[in-house]
Amino acid sequence: MKIIYMGYEDYVNLGYRPGKNDLVCEFSVEPDMGLSVREAAGRVAAESSTGTWVDVTTSNPYVNKISAKVFYIKGRIIRIAYPLELFEPDNVPQILSSIAGNIFGMKDIRNLRLEDVDLPPKIIKSFRGPEFGIHGVRKLLGVKKRPLLGTIIKPKLGLKTKDHAEVAYQAWVGGCDIVKDDENLSNQAFNPFRERVRETLKMRDKAERETGERKMYMPNVTAETGEMLKRAEFVKRQGGEYVMLDILTAGWSALQALRNANLGLVIHAHRAMHAAITRNKRHGISMLAIAKFARLIGVDQLHIGTVVGKMEGGKEEITEIEGEIERKIIQPDRNNHVLAENWLHIKPVFAVCSGGLAPVHVPRLVRMLGRDIIIQMGGGIHGNPEGTEAGAREARKAVERFA
Ligand code: 3PG
Ligand code: 3PG
Ligand code: MG
Repeated sequence: MKIIYMGYEDYVNLGYRPGKNDLVCEFSVEPDMGLSVREAAGRVAAESSTGTWVDVTTSNPYVNKISAKVFYIKGRIIRIAYPLELFEPDNVPQILSSIAGNIFGMKDIRNLRLEDVDLPPKIIKSFRGPEFGIHGVRKLLGVKKRPLLGTIIKPKLGLKTKDHAEVAYQAWVGGCDIVKDDENLSNQAFNPFRERVRETLKMRDKAERETGERKMYMPNVTAETGEMLKRAEFVKRQGGEYVMLDILTAGWSALQALRNANLGLVIHAHRAMHAAITRNKRHGISMLAIAKFARLIGVDQLHIGTVVGKMEGGKEEITEIEGEIERKIIQPDRNNHVLAENWLHIKPVFAVCSGGLAPVHVPRLVRMLGRDIIIQMGGGIHGNPEGTEAGAREARKAVERFA
């Protein structure tokens, strides 16, 4: 049977102007051979809203009314407006199943990338956003201006609980504000979760007494959702103030469950696996779009890349998340990047730079991204030939220049 596509053109309306109840997406699209961008755009709008590959006899005027509309095409960039009725508020998985679902696998479209999303106020209002955000985290730590300093316990896997807690202690007394587990440490036999939390928080208390500073521990609660929540509750009962979650491997639903549990814990979001989705600049989803959904749900801190570190995530990606670098340099005190721009009741998120960083990178990071960042160093601290404490001291000196 030869498949005849019908109706796709009806999803293109270049005269349409999006209203305040529309969700607007920007995509870059590369059609397969023989198809125009306009035709491809119609297919994307159809499949991500109300359509399929053929006109169906079961449709009605209401379906037409709530269909997505392609209203802008320039080169490979297209913009699509989606009426509010298509979405369930407070449900990120549903929203993404529409605007970032089947469309990535359509045979007619060689490459498709969701570049940006603009959400209508009615959807934004249905989410809590961060409980603490930049201001709340600074208040908790009592650090007003300088970048916050964190470390990741290294080696990332294999340290027994006592050794893990001891390394954390050294990092804190050396000058770190925050110590975190690595993304793949959860509840392995060599370092069980509950014991680790107890032991490491004891060391936190000791470091706080000795230094007179607030110190934070971010245990990684990544697990199946029910178990994740139990671990987060355990952290709270033990007097912890933070949890960390691998938001992409755990999933959007898990992140929503954690935020909606309202435990009064700071949520640190690690983005392990993001590059499978974000790295290809022609296909997938931009880190910018991922960051917006993470902020909407309510992470307080989010990994954004480093420009200068070991991981992919170059200057352009950071600028698209962090806003225009030039503007940041000229107006370093204005929080104008996406993680911090005004967004109704949604608080600003702390940007976390992590991956391959050392004290020497600090001035450049601050120049590019401002002081409202969390700088994390794993190897850059524990790799110091004189040990963790000395490494942390050196890193602290580097951030103190921006106090
Ligand atoms: C992280 O999870 O953020 C890191 O493990 C960074 O480690 P590194 O500083 O040794 O690259
Ligand atoms: C790591 O685990 O080494 C890093 O945290 C990677 O960080 P990124 O995903 O923010 O680049
Ligand atoms: Mg890591």
